[in-house]
Amino acid sequence: MNTHHHEQMTVAQIMEKMIAFSGGNLHDIDHFIRVWTYARTIGKMEQLNKDTQFILEVASITHDIACPLCREKYGNTNGKYQEEEGIPLVKTFLSDTGMTKTQIERIAYLVGHHHTINGIDASDWQILIEADYIANATENNYSETNIRNFVQKIMKTDSGKRLAKSIFRI
Ligand SMILES: [Fe+2]
Repeated sequence: MNTHHHEQMTVAQIMEKMIAFSGGNLHDIDHFIRVWTYARTIGKMEQLNKDTQFILEVASITHDIACPLCREKYGNTNGKYQEEEGIPLVKTFLSDTGMTKTQIERIAYLVGHHHTINGIDASDWQILIEADYIANATENNYSETNIRNFVQKIMKTDSGKRLAKSIFRI
């Protein structure tokens, strides 16, 4: 039995830690703040339980943790590299947050699958994908066809679909 009590960092403290980790890259910071906001909103509206909501919020803050490394190492932020490189990075990043091993493993799994749309089997994963898509579509001006397809074929939550419809006016 674990008799040691560790204070667990709050979402706000993890946000501050991730902002510090980003070394002043405003594009990266803006992106994960937006993904976190959408993910948080969808999670609350879908009434996730407290633990899943926490996992979702931390995953959305940290999901692109491998972006700087991938730019340096591969010259791009290709999704597969990001997923692979993100797993060990996020485990190290969260190691001093007081989160349990189970929580850290789940977040590492989500970071490692945030570009994978096949086999989504849980609400934290589904909502991370939806929130990241909305943020990417606003940042990169995705076409209306692309957005309609995604909303119809990939999005599953009613709140994610409603958000996408009002943001993109489709
Ligand atoms: Fe992202």
